[in-house]
Amino acid sequence: MAKTASLKLDDKEYPLPIIEGTEGEKAIDTRTLRAASGYIAYDQGYGNTGSCESKITFLDGDNGILRHRGYPIDQLANQSDFVETAYLVIYGDLPNQARRKEFGLLLRKNAAVETQMQKILEGFPTNASPMAMLSALVSALPAYHADLATNNFEKDLQNFDLAAAVAMSKIRTFVAMIYRYQKGLPFIFPKQELPFCDNFLHMMFSEPYKDYIAMPEVAKALNLLLLLHADHEQNCSTSTVRMVGSSAANLFTSISAGICALSGPLHGGANVAVMQMLQSIHDEGDDGTRFIAAAKSGSKSNRLMGFGHAVYRNFDPRAKIIGDACDTVLRKLGVEDPLLVIAKNLEQAALKDEYFVTRKLYPNVDFYSGIIMRALGIPMNMFTTMFAIGRAPGYIANWREVASNPKGRIYRPRQVYVGVTKRDYVPMAQRG
Ligand code: ACO
Repeated sequence: MAKTASLKLDDKEYPLPIIEGTEGEKAIDTRTLRAASGYIAYDQGYGNTGSCESKITFLDGDNGILRHRGYPIDQLANQSDFVETAYLVIYGDLPNQARRKEFGLLLRKNAAVETQMQKILEGFPTNASPMAMLSALVSALPAYHADLATNNFEKDLQNFDLAAAVAMSKIRTFVAMIYRYQKGLPFIFPKQELPFCDNFLHMMFSEPYKDYIAMPEVAKALNLLLLLHADHEQNCSTSTVRMVGSSAANLFTSISAGICALSGPLHGGANVAVMQMLQSIHDEGDDGTRFIAAAKSGSKSNRLMGFGHAVYRNFDPRAKIIGDACDTVLRKLGVEDPLLVIAKNLEQAALKDEYFVTRKLYPNVDFYSGIIMRALGIPMNMFTTMFAIGRAPGYIANWREVASNPKGRIYRPRQVYVGVTKRDYVPMAQRG
């Protein structure tokens, strides 16, 4: 018999169905509560609310577990690459050789950006925020691919494979274009024969008449970095993608909204904030004590960036992998970064501090990712756009789940109104 929970309100009992996930996660289904009782469930910030059922990513924040489609993140990090993991996240299974080739080909064929779209970019001031430019370019994609973006679930799903490849491949090209535009450099066309990450590095760093050929270590490090960002369950930007997608908005529009959400410093923008913090510790010759003391003040503006996570209460498994990779990558590239030493000392100091220990605050993925990006030659202001390239598969997979759910409804949370109660309009002449 199906299990139910019981809620007692004013002496009346309301049975509520219980849902259990495949990994034993339990939830009380409150969908019928308001109609039956007049009450809604209140959960500011949705920290204890399941907004959907999903088959993409399993995350157990208490035990530091992250799995995509069942595969542990450390196995993917050690054995897979970004494109294969993207396929897994989007389609649900690891590809066989033929499917992997087909997917790769679709990405390669859709890497180039229309000349007219370049003009959109050229309309921005060169010092504009790269995330603002990226979200604008992605939100313009429906104008250039109207057939893939009809705002009709059924039609858009029929063209899903192509739309997914366009989104993933072009987001990467846009990022390289934004970088070059800001530096006043001519755009470099993608090369069809290059793998995904090598092609990105080629578009970023090639010079006229001198192709940049990525060292295998560099391409490998970039693959790892993007792979570790591929999806992360119902985070702020992915939930945004789902929310926008639930209105039947097409894939590109939904992703563009996700990119906007990603830009905030409490989310994807944290990788920039971490590096600014490490740099200022370096410049001031401080040992980080000042930042730790300020972070303990409880002010949201002084948080220790790269520390803490909305769901991880043990450790962020991605941070562990990326922290270890930092040493290897920097050694292989022969880079000595004083910020890595500062980051390690800061981590040790915070992990011993009672404030961080009692609140279970550990380094998150952003704590070390900036150091790897710096070693690859990516400037700080582009860090969050790199996160967007990595997170594209997660956005795509989540949009697809929303679009293909026959029982899905538009995302529309409720609220508890705490404003002024009814009052009558006062004409201007009578106002004080
Ligand atoms: N520095 C200092 N104190 C912190 C930090 C931090 N980085 N993070 C949380 N806290 C404190 C909170 O103020 C709160 O204190 P209180 O109990 O005395 O009120 C306590 O720790 C618990 O906070 P949480 O509930 O764990 O935090 P929340 O879920 O609201 O926020 C967040 C999570 C936004 C990630 C937060 O930890 C933070 O701001 N971190 C710094 C920014 C950052 O690195 N963001 C990247 C996240 S990963 C990602 O998006 C890819």
